[in-house]
Formats: sequence, C-alpha cells, structure tokens
Amino acid sequence: QGKARTAYVCAECGAEHNKWQGQCGECGAWNSLSEIVLESAAGKAASPAARRSSWAGKVDAPKVTALKDVRHSEDARVSTGIGEFDRVLGGGLVEGAVVLVGGDPGIGKSTLLLQALAQMAPALPGLYVTGEESLGQVAGRAARLGLPLDGLNALAETGVERILEHASELQPKLIVADSVQTLWTEQLTAAPGSVGQVRESAARLVRYAKETGAAVFLVGHVTKEGGIAGPRVLEHMVDAVLYFEGDSGSRFRVLRAFKNRFGAVNELGVFAMGDKGLREVPNPSAIFLSGGSVQQPGSCVMVTREGTRPLLVEVQALVDSSPLSNPRRVAVGLEQNRLAMLLAVLHRHGGVVVSDQDVFVNVVGGIRVQETAADLPVLLAVLSSLRDRPLPDKTIAFGEIGLSGEIRPVPNGEERLKEAATHGFKRAIVPKANAPKAGSYKGMEVVAVERLSDALSAAE
Ligand code: TYD
Ligand code: MG
Repeated sequence: QGKARTAYVCAECGAEHNKWQGQCGECGAWNSLSEIVLESAAGKAASPAARRSSWAGKVDAPKVTALKDVRHSEDARVSTGIGEFDRVLGGGLVEGAVVLVGGDPGIGKSTLLLQALAQMAPALPGLYVTGEESLGQVAGRAARLGLPLDGLNALAETGVERILEHASELQPKLIVADSVQTLWTEQLTAAPGSVGQVRESAARLVRYAKETGAAVFLVGHVTKEGGIAGPRVLEHMVDAVLYFEGDSGSRFRVLRAFKNRFGAVNELGVFAMGDKGLREVPNPSAIFLSGGSVQQPGSCVMVTREGTRPLLVEVQALVDSSPLSNPRRVAVGLEQNRLAMLLAVLHRHGGVVVSDQDVFVNVVGGIRVQETAADLPVLLAVLSSLRDRPLPDKTIAFGEIGLSGEIRPVPNGEERLKEAATHGFKRAIVPKANAPKAGSYKGMEVVAVERLSDALSAAE
C-alpha cells in the first residue's frame, strides 16, 4: 500500500502548503507546518470539494430533502451518571456526539471518563482505548474506584486503523480515546503527537462517530499556553470542547464547556478528587475561598456567576515595588489585558499610581473568571495590597468598570447578593443599579457605587 498524497498545514492559521517550510507563508508563524493527508492511499485523486465532503462523512448520493422529513434524535441524551458532568454537557451525552476533554496531565481526565464510561455502560456499551496506560493500569484503577465493569471493553492501541477495525467488530456505542496525542494513522509519516497526526486521527474518529452514531470522547492534553495540543481545527471538528481546570494543590476540579453544539457554554461542573475518584460537588458556592479566618490585605471576595450558578470566589493581589523599568503585570485566572486596563483606570480616575510596582493577581482555587463583574473586586484587592490594609471584614464586591471610571451593573445582581448573604457576608460593594433601594439585603449592608472614587472610599 502506497503512502497517501499529503500537504502541509499551518497549526496557527490552517493554510495549506505543498511542501514543508520553516515559516508559514500565510500568517508568518514559525515551525507551525505539519503534514496532513489529502487523499487516502486507496482513494482516487480528491478534489477540494470531495475532500471537504469526506470530512463531513459519507455522502454517496447527496440529495435534497425537506428538512421536516429528516429523522433526528434531538432528545436522545444519555445521562453520564454524574450530575455535574451532565450539566456541562447540556443535560447528558447526545448520541453520536464527539466531545473533546482537555486539561493538564494529572488533573483527572482519565479518571472522570472511566467513571462515566462505567456508569453509562448499561445504556451505551463502551470501548476505552488507552494509548498512555497499560490495560493493567486501567483495570487496576477501575477496581480501586469500585466501578461496575459490565459492558465495558478496553483496548491498548494507538493506531487509528486498528482501533476502527476493533470498533467495527465490537460496535460500541461509546468510545473514549485517551489520549488523542498518542493516536496515529499509517497514512502519514509524521510522528505520533505531531499536529498532522493528531488532526487526521481525530478526523477519522469524528467520521466514524457520524457514520455509526457512536459517541466519542477525545482526551487531549493541554499545552503550556493553555490550548489543546494540536491545530485549532480540532476544536472545529468536534461537537463540544470541555476543559478541566484546577489547582494541583487543591482537590477541587472544574469542568467547563468552552464550546457546545448541544448546550450552553460557560456552564461549570465542579468535582472533588478523593480516594474514590472524582466526586461531584453539586453545591460548590464557597469552595473557592482561601478559608482564612482573618481578613488579609490584598484579598477580596467576589460573587461571580458561571453558567447558571453564583459562586463566591476570592481574588488575591500582591503589589510590590518593582526593580524593573517595565514592572510586571501578571494575572492568573483572569485576563492579562483586562488587568492592564483596570490599572490604567485606577490611575486615571482613582489617582492611584502603580506604574513603579509589580502587580500580581490570582484567583484562588485555580479557576478562571471571565466575566467583567470581576473588575471591581480586582481593583479593590490591588488597592488593599498597595495600602497593606485589609478590606473591612466579611465584605464582597462585584461590578464592571468602564474606561471613564464608571461602575456598571452586571446581570443577576440580586441572585449574587443572596448568595453572599446566605454565606454570612455583612457588607457588599456593588454597582448602584444592582443595589436594592433600602441599602441593605437580608441583613447585609449594601454600599451602592457609581464611580471608581466611590468604590475606593467604600473600601477604606
Ligand atoms: P488522571 O485521571 O490519571 O489524570 P489525567 O488523565 O488527566 O492525566 O488522574 C491522576 C491523578 O488523580 C493522580 O495524581 C492521582 C489522582 N487520583 C486520586 O487522587 N484518586 C483517585 O481515586 C484516582 C483514580 C486518581
Ligand atoms: Mg490520563
């Protein structure tokens, strides 16, 4: 069997080139090209259109159909047996869906998927394909976790041709490929783990899922930059992309939908890693607080809303005089550019100078906060560290900050206040439009602020 005709694709911009070169001619990225299959060795010369259709699945005789006559299984969802996992998937796993689960090594991807696979086996007989661990290790883990193993098969294999052969024979309704970085196809000469191999192997599994209706979980490791190793196209090929986040020091883990064709994005699932594997935390409200009993300088608790739940999350800041002419601004769990913008607003509209200071900001518990409601708490934490004075005890804050120093309201203000009051907070610094007229809420004093200057004096 001959080698397939191949091309070189840029991992950054997706441009195709006929031969390998060190720099992408399209976007200028260095070392971003890798080999991909243009046509299968057996197949005939594929036109770009034919290539595209072969990506989408088998199209032997395309014909126009009235949409209302198309049979679909919109509601065919299967529970994973893990409520928090179902929540992130949008209410369970859809038949034939391809879901990419990304995360740092050791965060618990294999554990979660093995648990889910075992729970779902009665409804969806599963095949666990392991390219990283031996069958003995997988079986050992399953036994340690006390999982029911009926209807569950495992395969230690990385060649995608052989995986698909076994799958055609066994006809599982659910396949886990752990991990996609170990997969390779005979059609490429590139090494397993290279962008071309990852992309093509994933594409083969996606095609298999769409043809057979089997659901597929692809496990993907995350690069230092935080993306799933492999080209961006991996994210476009699949139906849902979930990221597993968490601090290596903490036992809590957060699963977040980054893309989901079948549900809301930004829905969070929360888990705790224990000696019996991952346990769900259905009521995670206060787990992202550092838990000290004395209020420390540089700390501010905020109420964020992730997906459909309010969460109390602590932001910590450290402001320290910098030896550098270009002081450092480091944000962990928040967007770096947003921090730079907020510091500029703090200077321009709050009269607080930090241009000679290093500023580090961290969200406790390793979770990422994306909403702008974090603006006010971030600046209050920065200010508190700069002044080396803690915020008043039992205080929470939320609110977006605009470039002209105005504090803007955020959605679901009352729900956030309620969550804080339930957890015993006594004082809330919030945008005026989010504050109740009475100036208090369920025994909690609510300070309404309109301008950054109001907020700074409220935090004295
Ligand atoms: P794992 O699922 O192998 O991570 P990944 O597949 O994302 O690389 O999880 C590995 C970690 O989880 C490892 O450090 C041990 C820990 N762990 C527990 O604490 N309890 C358990 O029951 C299991 C199975 C793992
Ligand atoms: Mg693993």
